[in-house]
Amino acid sequence: MVCSKRSWLVALVLVSLCCLARSTDVSHDGRAIKINGERRIIISGAIHYPRSTPEMWPDLLRKAKEGGLDAIETYIFWNGHEPRRREYYFEGNYDVIRFFKEIQNAGLYAIVRFGPYVCAEWDYGGVPAWLRKIPGMEFRTNNQQWKDEMANFTTLIADMLKQERLFAPQGGPIILAQIENEYGNIMGPFGDAGKEYIQWCANFAESLNVGLPWIMCQQSDAPQPMINTCNGYYCDNFTPNNPNSPKIWTENWLGWFKAWGKPDPHRPAEDLAFAVARFFQANGTLQNYYMYHGGTNFARTPGGPYITTSYDYDAPLDEYGNIRQPKWGHLKELHAALKLMEKALTYGDVNNTDFGNGVAATKFSYNETLSGCFLSNANQSSDATLEYQGAKYFLPAWSVSILPDCKQEVYNTAKVTTQTSIMVKKPNKAVDEASDLKWSWRPEILGSSVSGLGGNFTENKLSDQITTAFDESDYLWYMTSVDISHQQQMTLRVNTTGHVLHAFVNGQLVGSQYGPNGNWVFVLEQTANFKAGKNHISLLSVTVGLKNYGARYELDPAGIVGGPVQLIGGNITIDLSTNEWSYKIGLDGEKTKVYLDNPDRKWYSGMIPTQRPFTWYKTTFETPLGLDPVVVDLVGMGKGAAWVNGNNIGRFWPNYTASADGCNGCDYRGAYKAEKCQTGCGEPSQRWYHVPRSFLKPGEPNALVLFEEAGGDPVQVNFQTVTVGTACSSADQGKTLNLSCQGGLTISNIDFASFGDPKGTCGGYERGGCESDEVYSLISEECVGKESCSIQIGENLLGKCNGSNTSSKSLVVQATC
Ligand code: GAL
Repeated sequence: MVCSKRSWLVALVLVSLCCLARSTDVSHDGRAIKINGERRIIISGAIHYPRSTPEMWPDLLRKAKEGGLDAIETYIFWNGHEPRRREYYFEGNYDVIRFFKEIQNAGLYAIVRFGPYVCAEWDYGGVPAWLRKIPGMEFRTNNQQWKDEMANFTTLIADMLKQERLFAPQGGPIILAQIENEYGNIMGPFGDAGKEYIQWCANFAESLNVGLPWIMCQQSDAPQPMINTCNGYYCDNFTPNNPNSPKIWTENWLGWFKAWGKPDPHRPAEDLAFAVARFFQANGTLQNYYMYHGGTNFARTPGGPYITTSYDYDAPLDEYGNIRQPKWGHLKELHAALKLMEKALTYGDVNNTDFGNGVAATKFSYNETLSGCFLSNANQSSDATLEYQGAKYFLPAWSVSILPDCKQEVYNTAKVTTQTSIMVKKPNKAVDEASDLKWSWRPEILGSSVSGLGGNFTENKLSDQITTAFDESDYLWYMTSVDISHQQQMTLRVNTTGHVLHAFVNGQLVGSQYGPNGNWVFVLEQTANFKAGKNHISLLSVTVGLKNYGARYELDPAGIVGGPVQLIGGNITIDLSTNEWSYKIGLDGEKTKVYLDNPDRKWYSGMIPTQRPFTWYKTTFETPLGLDPVVVDLVGMGKGAAWVNGNNIGRFWPNYTASADGCNGCDYRGAYKAEKCQTGCGEPSQRWYHVPRSFLKPGEPNALVLFEEAGGDPVQVNFQTVTVGTACSSADQGKTLNLSCQGGLTISNIDFASFGDPKGTCGGYERGGCESDEVYSLISEECVGKESCSIQIGENLLGKCNGSNTSSKSLVVQATC
């Protein structure tokens, strides 16, 4: 093709016009982040791309946008992307470029937290375990080896993002970047090296030339021009370390993560909204929910030792991507209310009035006509009625009212008008019932390992599992032999730093143990028969994710490091700790990839063994009809890992039950902490496991493979879909009540409807002694058979509330979907 000079020039002008037009300038002053020179209020939410599937991303992002978010934040997960040194992985749920492009397609901005240390309840905090092979390596300090590896990986990612024009100045969605993560919280023990490191981080970040402001969270000494930001349940009292840094809340913990052996944490929508409103009342400019969608720790890598496969987090989008109500809707309304006064909040003069007893007003005045007000009551127990600028406002305890014109209250954080949806897990008609599932099984081949054979190397000591197995597998065999003079019963005592231990003597499993209540350091003590002569001892140490937090956390060992391992018979103790130990990484079934359902592998049918440790189980199942998320109920199983059509859906551990105590109801008022509002005490800490629909093959049988290491029974295992079971809504007289089954179901029945002063909560309403008889039939007529319905509440419509002595009346409806 021949091109004239002129046409080249035209093309060049066109290209630069297009790209200049799309380029976004991001800057800041002490008041706010500025987009193309305009100060903005930015509402962001975290979605970690590997914790969902690419097929889920567009839907999650659409729901985030609809929920009033402006931006999506994610970390970058180093050990997922660089599983072996200089071998990179960007496929499937690690396709980070596709994720950012989906964010852009959804019309959202993005915030990238490079880390590359990320914490995030992620295996080893996101740092690849192979780094420990590098001589002299120390994580997260002024250590050349660390800085070289960190720089190598972070530069690679920054270059990839640049190449794809994903930074805002290039026309992409990314408006902000973070380096490191909460280093300030742990830097003390590093002394000067820590200070030098954080300075190096700042210089390094700047050298990446991404054309954006950089943030460091929880870093009160963040060097300029880094913006130090706040993480926590509340950040209204936070002040950045420089007058030129705007007030940013990088992690608004809107729930909490779940750990094995612990109940489910919940953060009430009222308290969460209160925290957000307080932040903006106190001059906040950008806040990010941690997490907006928590998702699932699918593969082996995610999850620190405490973390369940579910990373639901009580987020506005639940683990499966469903809208969690009322949290999602209550926040959506809050975002809309805040946006109504964006100009006043970012440009207005600020005037605070303290009325005492926790009651305060903040007025942001832009000009004569444009102003916005917050009226807050931070008192934990007393409601207040505030007279403000000639009008009266009712402020429930622990609440903030938003008045975008300083007159009319459009939102109060404690007055939830969004419906509550109770999700249920239902058997799906197309899916085989538990009793229909036909199982086959095969044993894990233990023969050589329990006879001390096939080790990878030997040592005359008990080594740390991390620097022996380098996270290649959860499983590490420690194998040795001992000569005993005569046949006798002896006690085997093993001190381990966790997390799970199985002990074999002469080929027999003699004991299995794990740390109760999340205490991963424990002693296994078990009697066993020893014969005269040579005896084999094989100890299978199992990790459930590597530690992710703390100064020098990488040095915290796992496995039977140092032991001691002892044999006690009568008053003789034989210390085996310095014996010759042979080490073998991984299970036979992992090496031969049993989970891929390879036809060469032999599976047995007929009698299916139960409570048999070290057993592989397999079944096939139909894809559930519809679009609702799919879960597999692993009730009856012990501990292990599960695969669907070869995709790892995570570790399972339904026999690790949550502690019986700590579920004592919940009052949203007063400072939140993770133990405040829990459910699920005494129940399996995780029973249901997400099977993303993209893992399933419609119209073909799907394979479920389970590896059971503790002993379980698959007879009750079954597939279900997750959907709204019950929807409840209430609204005051004069307002409109909205009710919806979400996700396409129709309202099949009205369980409860009362107008007046009904009491209780969704799933347990009671009439309040003031009812209208017409209500029930009217609501049923209006709503049953529909996906959603709206009812304008007026006495004319709903009849009189007989015998009422309450002045304001409300309508409460509970429906089955
Ligand atoms: C923060 C950390 C996050 C996450 C969170 C708890 O300290 O920065 O990555 O671990 O705690 O969920």
